[in-house]
Amino acid sequence: MRQTPSKLYHMGTLTNKRIVLGITGGIAAYKSAELVRRLRDAGADVRVVMTQAATEFITPLTMQAVSGNPVHSHLLDADAESGMSHIELARWADTALVAPASANFIAKMAHGRADDLLSTLCLATEGQVALAPAMNQQMWLNLATQENVGTLKRHGIRIFGPAAGAQACGETGPGRMLEPVEIVSLTTQLFSTGTLAGLRVLVTAGPTWEVIDPVRGITNRSSGRMGYAVAEAAAEAGAKVTLVSGPTALDAPQRVTTIRVSSALEMFDSVHAHIEGVDIFIGVAAVSDYRPASAASQKIKKHADTLTLELVKNPDILKSVAALSPAPFTVGFAAETENLETHAREKLIDKHIDLVAINDVSETDIGFDTEDNRLLLIDRHGKSELPRQHKSQLARALIQYVAERYHAKRAAQDSRPARR
Ligand code: C5P
Repeated sequence: MRQTPSKLYHMGTLTNKRIVLGITGGIAAYKSAELVRRLRDAGADVRVVMTQAATEFITPLTMQAVSGNPVHSHLLDADAESGMSHIELARWADTALVAPASANFIAKMAHGRADDLLSTLCLATEGQVALAPAMNQQMWLNLATQENVGTLKRHGIRIFGPAAGAQACGETGPGRMLEPVEIVSLTTQLFSTGTLAGLRVLVTAGPTWEVIDPVRGITNRSSGRMGYAVAEAAAEAGAKVTLVSGPTALDAPQRVTTIRVSSALEMFDSVHAHIEGVDIFIGVAAVSDYRPASAASQKIKKHADTLTLELVKNPDILKSVAALSPAPFTVGFAAETENLETHAREKLIDKHIDLVAINDVSETDIGFDTEDNRLLLIDRHGKSELPRQHKSQLARALIQYVAERYHAKRAAQDSRPARR
């Protein structure tokens, strides 16, 4: 039975949320005006982007009136770009919601095309992208559309609906856009996804800095972007998140308690100072394996032709957390250039951790210090691949996977007979 609209969402559930509502060409576009009104009633700030075809179904003037903001429809419009450019709009959005999403738009998104403002924005945003498909039932059931939808889901894009029923074309079947009230409800859930609700998550990120002398140190190419994205995705999934970060150029993520440290030893101390009560530990930091045995108090002068630095091993933070009793659910990252799976399985066993996420850093354009990444996930049950995508989308997919595994482990523990 369907819930009544009043039970589906509550006023204010989207307060402070910034939503770009994309409208593509389809008869369901007439529902978009009501959708905007309901999104605003729930507290969202809405900016509307229309494709050319959408303007044939509903006028930009209507959408401007209901959204209270100018409508954007051209990619290369000097006036629009001087107001809020497509990149600014992409950065501004917490969510890009496309409703209705036509078969053509879905196909374009699945193949990463960016030939108009809306498709460009959806590619450029770090926010969650969600599509509410609306089309003729045969078009929805067409294998090409189904494959495109499957691709989008694997890329972390959310698909709302469609519903089945009588269609504008006179046919009956799946392809009707969900009602605005249902779309608002699903959009609300994007921000309060319960997967990690009430749990505590600790994430390490960035490189470490191992002091050689007051002006020199040992570090690595980690930018911290992946770890920051993981911390944000965990917060988005409802967790209380602490991020212990090595030196990075990144702003502290919102809704996350960020603690900045420098060396591996400081990171170790900070992690253990905050580990009590943590349910999930995710070690994304590229911790320096070694540090200089002693740091020079003055700048080392270049007198000798050769200089030998004695290095000593740093403690393994991840391993030390996995050895705690009780230990949180532990996730490690591995940057590998060869024999990815073999090395990951060794790490799983050696460090007694629950899951390893492998970065293949042999490919120079992904992994360290890049916007995109892909991951191979290995645990005791098998492996799973998260395909190449922006780090923020990838982080969401990883968090979803971690949440499933965490809950499965807890359920298995709870169902075990109690020991006498
Ligand atoms: O053994 P390896 O350094 O390849 O393992 C990588 C994983 O271990 C990452 O999750 C990293 O954050 C963690 N690690 C750590 N402390 C170290 C070295 C690695 O927590 N000293």
